[in-house]
Amino acid sequence: MTMAGYPAATHEAEGETCASCHADNAALASAHEGALPSSTMPKRLTKTKVDDTLCLACHDQEELAEKTAASTVLADSQGLVENPHALPETENHTAIACSDCHKMHSPETAAETAKAKCLSCHHENVFECNTCHEEM
Ligand code: HEC
Ligand code: HEC
Ligand code: HEC
Ligand code: HEC
Ligand code: HEC
Repeated sequence: MTMAGYPAATHEAEGETCASCHADNAALASAHEGALPSSTMPKRLTKTKVDDTLCLACHDQEELAEKTAASTVLADSQGLVENPHALPETENHTAIACSDCHKMHSPETAAETAKAKCLSCHHENVFECNTCHEEM
């Protein structure tokens, strides 16, 4: 489950446990009803959630934004660069969760996942819709 180098493993090295993030105890209990070590293990979360408030119990949004202020990971084809932790505050962006970009149990980097997330709406890899469409 926690492969070395994946973010969940980094957290364990820092002394955090599974329960630091998987803290939705009532839902966890029902998800594990009748579960055995030999049962098929889940490939994604379906019955429980790890939402941003949990991450933000330890991480600070403003500090994160400062740390990545110079990040050029999210650059579009026009050279417009966005800070991954200070996206435009419209509904489409505030709906993006930490775990949409940070896959805790995967070797995928946040940079790769985040870019794919932007591209899911910003076709042609251009952030400003009005580069092509008028008045949006
Ligand atoms: C730093 C927070 C964090 C820690 C620590 C953590 N997890 Fe997770 N876990 C998540 C998040 C967030 C998801 C949702 C998918 C994702 O973002 O990778 C997840 C997904 C899962 C899943 C669904 C399968 C999957 O890969 O998506 C299982 C099962 C799981 N975690 C078990 C564990 C166990 C067992 C531990 C301890 C050994 C653990 N987790 C430690 C945050 C964490
Ligand atoms: C119980 C406290 C705690 C919780 C909850 C927590 N973190 Fe962390 N996280 C830490 C600590 C401590 C570190 C190591 C120091 C640092 O890099 O800030 C860390 C490091 C990280 C890193 C850098 C890891 C790396 O491998 O470079 C990422 C990304 C991260 N956390 C994302 C998350 C996300 C997303 C969540 C919610 C799913 C989360 N954290 C929940 C305490 C926590
Ligand atoms: C839009 C995608 C995106 C979202 C949403 C996002 N991150 Fe990140 N995060 C990144 C990327 C990309 C990096 C690496 C930036 C780089 O290396 O230039 C990063 C880096 C980090 C780091 C390491 C910072 C450092 O340099 O020490 C931590 C910790 C972290 N994120 C935690 C979080 C937490 C907690 C949340 C939710 C509150 C979150 N992130 C939301 C994309 C995102
Ligand atoms: C769910 C769809 C969606 C996703 C995902 C998304 N965007 Fe957007 N984005 C939009 C829309 C729609 C607009 C036009 C303004 C609005 O209505 O929010 C926009 C506008 C923008 C703008 C221009 C803001 C302005 O002031 O004109 C930037 C910059 C941007 N997005 C960056 C990003 C980045 C970086 C990502 C990836 C982390 C991202 N967006 C992910 C839908 C999305
Ligand atoms: C690089 C230029 C470019 C940018 C930037 C761009 N679009 Fe488009 N968009 C197009 C073109 C060309 C089409 C028509 C061809 C197609 O469907 O791919 C289109 C089609 C669409 C359609 C479908 C219209 C229909 O017929 O149903 C919608 C909706 C749309 N764009 C919304 C957006 C939004 C929202 C953004 C910003 C997130 C955006 N576009 C950014 C060029 C662009």
